[in-house]
Amino acid sequence: MARLDLTRQAAAAGFSLPALELTDEDREAAIGTWRGRMVNEHISARVFAGLIPQMMAAEIDASAQAEVARMIGEELRHGVQCAAVVHALGGQAAADLPPLPPVAQHPEVGPLEGFTRNLLSICCLSETVAVALIGRERLETGPESLEAVLKAILADEVGHARFGWRMLDSLAPNFDRATRERLGDYLITAFAHFRDHELLHLPEVASPSARAEAIGVCDGREARRLFADTVDRIIVPGLERRGLPGGEAWRAAQRLPSAVV
Ligand SMILES: [Fe+2]
Ligand SMILES: [Fe+2]
Repeated sequence: MARLDLTRQAAAAGFSLPALELTDEDREAAIGTWRGRMVNEHISARVFAGLIPQMMAAEIDASAQAEVARMIGEELRHGVQCAAVVHALGGQAAADLPPLPPVAQHPEVGPLEGFTRNLLSICCLSETVAVALIGRERLETGPESLEAVLKAILADEVGHARFGWRMLDSLAPNFDRATRERLGDYLITAFAHFRDHELLHLPEVASPSARAEAIGVCDGREARRLFADTVDRIIVPGLERRGLPGGEAWRAAQRLPSAVV
């Protein structure tokens, strides 16, 4: 199993928190949360990296490829920013990496449609929900230095989500009916995976305390509600506006059994 060790980068970041009156339980919960984020942010880099060869094969404009290349660096930096918080909380900024399956290539369709599938899944679904979750969390955050970290990460995630919707704006008018239908079928699978992934990371439990919530241990029940609201109010209408059957796909995905409760 590969290990991610950002202890050196975390110490070098020079990030500090004010004196916090935390119970051991609150501190452990906060360290666990930020360490989990550190891993998730770091491995997001590999997803954007996987898009680049696909964009080349699909003859996507080179400026858009450069934008994605910048996003790789942003996700790696988010990983270090979260590691710095772990370090400031007194934790070790290192963790085992989960198995990392390769980014889906979708060989059953052409390069442009394959890229569109990944764009939908990564930017229009995952990054759009990330914006909602981090945006809300920022409002709950206590220490100013921590709020500044979330603000900086949020600004990048907004860029990642917007990139997806903007690319879709330019690609969608050229989809024929069969392509829209195939993308609709793909969206059912993408939504089902997305739901399971988010629910796994948002356990249905309250934050252990208001103090823990102020340093990033969110209320999982509220986060789950926000996730569902974001899909219903932002993602589905965004897909529908661009001629993709988002509502039908989301309803179909919800009927599929979930491995997560
Ligand atoms: Fe990120
Ligand atoms: Fe992102």
